[in-house]
Amino acid sequence: MRDADGAERALLAFLESNAEISNSEAFARDLGVDHELLAGTIKSLHGFGFIEAKDVRRESWELTEEGLVYSRNGSPEVQVFDAVPAGGISREDLQRKLDDSVFSIGFRKAMSNKWLETKPLVSRKVLKVEDVVKQQLLDIKDGKNLSAADIDALKKRKLIVPKVWKAYSITKGANYAPTRTKAATEVTREMLLKETWSEVAFKPYNFQALGQPTEGGHLHPLLKVRTKFRQIFLEMGFEEMPTNNFVESSFWNFDALFQPQQHPARDSHDTFFLKSPCKTQTFPEDYLERVKTIHEQGGFGSIGYMYDWKREEAEKNVLRTHTTAVSSRMLYKLAQDGFVPKRYFSIDRVFRNEAVDRTHLAEFHQIEGLICDKGLTLGDLIGVLNDFFSRLGMKKLRFKPAYNPYTEPSMEIFRQVYPLYGSSALLTLISCCNSYHEQLNKWVEVGNSGMFRPEMLLPMGLPDDVSVIAWGLSLERPTMILYGIDNIRDLFGHKVDLKLIKSNPICRLGM
Ligand code: PHE
Repeated sequence: MRDADGAERALLAFLESNAEISNSEAFARDLGVDHELLAGTIKSLHGFGFIEAKDVRRESWELTEEGLVYSRNGSPEVQVFDAVPAGGISREDLQRKLDDSVFSIGFRKAMSNKWLETKPLVSRKVLKVEDVVKQQLLDIKDGKNLSAADIDALKKRKLIVPKVWKAYSITKGANYAPTRTKAATEVTREMLLKETWSEVAFKPYNFQALGQPTEGGHLHPLLKVRTKFRQIFLEMGFEEMPTNNFVESSFWNFDALFQPQQHPARDSHDTFFLKSPCKTQTFPEDYLERVKTIHEQGGFGSIGYMYDWKREEAEKNVLRTHTTAVSSRMLYKLAQDGFVPKRYFSIDRVFRNEAVDRTHLAEFHQIEGLICDKGLTLGDLIGVLNDFFSRLGMKKLRFKPAYNPYTEPSMEIFRQVYPLYGSSALLTLISCCNSYHEQLNKWVEVGNSGMFRPEMLLPMGLPDDVSVIAWGLSLERPTMILYGIDNIRDLFGHKVDLKLIKSNPICRLGM
């Protein structure tokens, strides 16, 4: 057996005294090397112009599994013939002596060959038979040629299948030399010191080579989509709110938002409470008093909730359940600093004590936008939502009355799904991936919105002609739709395949 170098030397040496190698396959066999290995050498020599190589296609035959068995054990018809004793045998006894398939195939063949008769015992009609089929199969194995009729018969019996051989015919190439010295791939220190570099043959640069993949940092799809949403908000003149506090007091998360203390969302089934530190104790006391009053007895024309508001409830620390907690802090601050019109947004993580399934995790990201100005109306909210969502490629929205403790009126935002309609990736992917994809003209919810209640804004100290319009949506849902992920655990958490992080494509919204 020769290795690739040996094969290369033999090939070049052969061409030195011969005009051609007509079949590389036969040449490989004579050399005692695998043809695959020689083919590699041929391609490389061809690439450097040492040889010319032309494809030679040859069809030959190969034994099937069944053919291989018969080439060893004999054809079934001969096996059956051999199993019949001189005095004859009952069909049942004969069958018992043989494999089922050998008996059923072989008996039929032996009968049609007129080797056997069945009157009444199975007995031989001829003295001796020759196993022609076995011999033919052995011949095929040795690469010998058979007549067309024989090939046809074996093919019909599924004992052989065609096999295409790809080989080469080889002649000297333009750069032929009886030996090849491997081209150098880089200048070494040695070459520079000994000044041999000018005589060395270098391998030409391959400018088409793809190069190594860069192994730097990789952005998670959620971060990419977040960047795009951030860009849309910035283009619309919004400022980002500081969202770096995952831990929040119930006061800012719920009470400031006029969410009553017995509201089901404040139950431990829905909210994660902190054990340590379990309480927040510093609040703007005057504001806290006003919040207490609005809950207990109302004010500014509201009758409030008419219950005993407890400070202990407001002090309980939670993992914030929505980014609206940040909005409430920011609006309070705006009122203290002196009102000016503002457009705020945030995109960050929130936590809910929910059962985890393919669409829910106990933590996710919310996208929230709000505009605070004098004289805003529901029409402004609808207008800004149309602007915002059209930048995501969703041009036609519908709104449905909804309920949030802190907004009135409140609207769920819906968009229409057309299967494979439009050029927006988001639109198209929503159409393909959501569970309503088979229905035409289905409206799906894409967000929640509303105007913050006066019971929330007035205790903060905002002027009474100031309104705040706001909306929120999740970051995960559009990300999953964009990236074709249907199980949220494949997107976020410890089960995420790192390959997703390394190879996810760039994100474009609203194209
Ligand atoms: N905070 C709401 C939620 O968690 C979203 C929302 C934001 C609704 C702003 C109205 C206004 O679903």
